[in-house]
Amino acid sequence: MRKHVKNNVSWVGYIDWELESFHGDEYSIINGSSQNSYLVEEEKTVLIDTVWVPHRFEFVQNLKKEIDLSKIDYVIVNHGEPDHSGALTELMEEIPDVPIYCTKKAIDSIEGQFGKRGWNFHPVKTGDTLDIGNGKQLVFVEMTMLHWPDSMATYMTGDNILFSNDAFGQHFAVDELFNDKANKCLLDKEAMKYYTNILNPFSPMVARKIDEIVKMNIPIDMIAPSHGAIWRDNPMQIVERYAKWAQNYQEDQITIVYDTMWEGTEQLAHQIAKEVRDVSPDTVVKLFNCMKYDKNEIMTEVFKSRAIAVGSPTVSNDILPSVAKWIRFLKSLKFKGKKAAAFGCYGWSGESVKVLQEELKDAGFEVVDENIKCKWNPEEEDLSKAKAVVEALLK
Ligand code: FEO
Repeated sequence: MRKHVKNNVSWVGYIDWELESFHGDEYSIINGSSQNSYLVEEEKTVLIDTVWVPHRFEFVQNLKKEIDLSKIDYVIVNHGEPDHSGALTELMEEIPDVPIYCTKKAIDSIEGQFGKRGWNFHPVKTGDTLDIGNGKQLVFVEMTMLHWPDSMATYMTGDNILFSNDAFGQHFAVDELFNDKANKCLLDKEAMKYYTNILNPFSPMVARKIDEIVKMNIPIDMIAPSHGAIWRDNPMQIVERYAKWAQNYQEDQITIVYDTMWEGTEQLAHQIAKEVRDVSPDTVVKLFNCMKYDKNEIMTEVFKSRAIAVGSPTVSNDILPSVAKWIRFLKSLKFKGKKAAAFGCYGWSGESVKVLQEELKDAGFEVVDENIKCKWNPEEEDLSKAKAVVEALLK
């Protein structure tokens, strides 16, 4: 079912209420998601992006109820990942000769995933335009590594809509479609979680691209991403947020992440949290057991933090596998400009703190020397070291 976006532009995507995870199981979905596809009906009829593979039949059936598919003049594929190109196979069966506009790299990714099917590809670069009649044009902007090499955005003149694909999106089901209708707290949280977990590794490229978009000085009335709400009310707010997020973003927050075997390391984690509250009452403290709590949610808290403290007991001369796995993910997100400290209990060999310090350094954190390495259960002497750890993290 179509939803009106603006003038002759409609949303024809899929609201994915049931989605529980994304990118396999790599991204937790808590508030649903959507795959946004847009239909532009000017003198030319244009379809911008499609939906994920499992919804391809329903997508094409729904589209047929809205228009005669033979009326589609152009298909725009902003990105070849299957959550947006996944219905092409079904769609192009019906309209095999219709030109598909995408980047050169997207041809590679689409054919790589769906095979060479002889589709009528038209590769485009930044600044290339497509006339769609009624005095309006589509202008293509390459969005390399936001977040794939093949990504691009499409800007529609006249209506001033930036179809930004993954950039500025959120995994958030917003049936009401627009940011001014969505729950603002959830929208902001999901936009940040999306940036942290998908775009943060590419922050230097995000910063350059945002700069380029701002310098283009084009009027933007709406930013219509391929997931979640369309930014209609003050659309540039999300661009401004991306500009900040891309510059080693941090708030006055310390996040403590640990796993524990016999609760000794857990006690240390709580003592560090207590010290943050005592030493710096305005600093926000968050504390998570990484074995029990959602990794993508924890990473969003790390993104907001100026510093983290990571704890693990020693087991088999090493850290717990749960913490090792979590740090591996932490490293992949390429955080910069944040401090880190290590803590943990041990019974005899006690390597965990050293291993944590090395791993955290390797993950790009500035690791402070202050730590808590505690033999058996924490005594007053061990707990008292939390103050120095916190002071070093806050320095
Ligand atoms: Fe939403 Fe990169 O696909």
